[in-house]
Amino acid sequence: MAAVAEQIVHVTLGERSYDIVLYPGLLASVGDRLRALTTSLKIGVVTDRHVARRYLQGVLRSLRKAGYDPTPIILPPGEGTKTLGTIAKVLDRLARQRFERQSLLLALGGGVIGDITGFAAAIYQRGIPFVQVPTTLVAQVDSSVGGKTGVDHRLGKNMIGAFYQPRAVWIDPLTLRTLPRREWTAGLAEVIKYGIIADEEFFAFLEKEIPALLKLEESPVMRAIKRSCEIKAQVVAGDERESDRRRILNYGHTIGHALESLAGYRGLIHGEAVGIGLVQEADLAYHMGLCGPEVVERIRSIVQRAGLSGQAPQISFASLWGAMQHDKKVLGGRVIGVWPVKIGEVVIRPIERQVCAAWFQSTHGRGSRLPRGRQPGKHPARRKAVARR
Ligand SMILES: NC(=O)c1ccc[n+]([C@@H]2O[C@H](COP(=O)([O-])OP(=O)(O)OC[C@H]3O[C@@H](n4cnc5c(N)ncnc54)[C@H](O)[C@@H]3O)[C@@H](O)[C@H]2O)c1
Ligand SMILES: [Zn+2]
Repeated sequence: MAAVAEQIVHVTLGERSYDIVLYPGLLASVGDRLRALTTSLKIGVVTDRHVARRYLQGVLRSLRKAGYDPTPIILPPGEGTKTLGTIAKVLDRLARQRFERQSLLLALGGGVIGDITGFAAAIYQRGIPFVQVPTTLVAQVDSSVGGKTGVDHRLGKNMIGAFYQPRAVWIDPLTLRTLPRREWTAGLAEVIKYGIIADEEFFAFLEKEIPALLKLEESPVMRAIKRSCEIKAQVVAGDERESDRRRILNYGHTIGHALESLAGYRGLIHGEAVGIGLVQEADLAYHMGLCGPEVVERIRSIVQRAGLSGQAPQISFASLWGAMQHDKKVLGGRVIGVWPVKIGEVVIRPIERQVCAAWFQSTHGRGSRLPRGRQPGKHPARRKAVARR
């Protein structure tokens, strides 16, 4: 990958603006890059055991070479670590090591590490600088960009947190080479999402390059990450605190989150649930008369080619709707959804229970499965739905 040039995506957020830098091999230069961001020599490197095993020593070496005094904070891997208890432990370490207002935290890892580190940085001494160094595809294209930080509560995912922007996001795509395949395909669901919500040309590029992406070829991987970051940065810049426009990033997540929570966050990992959500929410949009059947089929096809299943686990409508209600996107009993009108364009609209129920019923009758696939143009509820448009 070394022949590829450094790429930069600027995130415009007034005085909280920052750059996302993408460069194969970037990890070796974190020490030099930090000079522009902090005057303190104390750097906390928060990571998890899996990532530490492969990348921590290289990062520490780079920091020491540049004159810094790094403190590694190694956490257990997995969503179970995203708790207030972990935050307390991280803060404790920072306090004991006498971290000051200018001391900086590096989040070296996936979305779990990024969310924890960002939140700890947001509240330690009312806010210290932090830099995201994401090492999973999900983190590189999604969680490291946008400033949402936080932890889970017993009663809900991401319930406790803060909007807090990093000083920079440094992406080294070479780290993706060690990512388990399942984590890689899960990340592709988020990449595909960006094409659907904002850029048909990018979607067409993904359709063409899926085989190369699955082989982790450098040039398409760089382009996929960069374009995803650009789209997320653009949406976030327009709506930092998710009042309206930022909701489009939730496409595929209304059903996705519901399935993820019904699976108890065990059976399905996030991106896999989102993959199903992308297909099912397009199908629902078609049922509502918002898009044509070809939109659903293109989405279904790319999701399957990426190695994700569009097929959901066994569930009943009552449990699906119940889980959709628990999402944050609820308004007066209706669920606010994001629906494709074509590839590259979505609309934000509430959906009523009976509309969702009719779709569920029409797609699989009395069975307990979400639809696996159907021929375009054969949708039973289609004519009525178009009339309601
Ligand atoms: N803040 C946001 O806007 C936002 C957006 C999306 C997701 N998230 C959060 O992100 C989390 C999911 O992130 P994730 O999918 O990165 O999961 P993760 O952080 O749990 O990482 C997945 C696994 O991959 C391992 N790993 C990480 N990098 C590796 C590498 N380069 N090589 C080998 N193994 C590696 C990790 O140790 C872990 O076991 C969730 O908690 C979710 O809520 C946040
Ligand atoms: Zn997501």
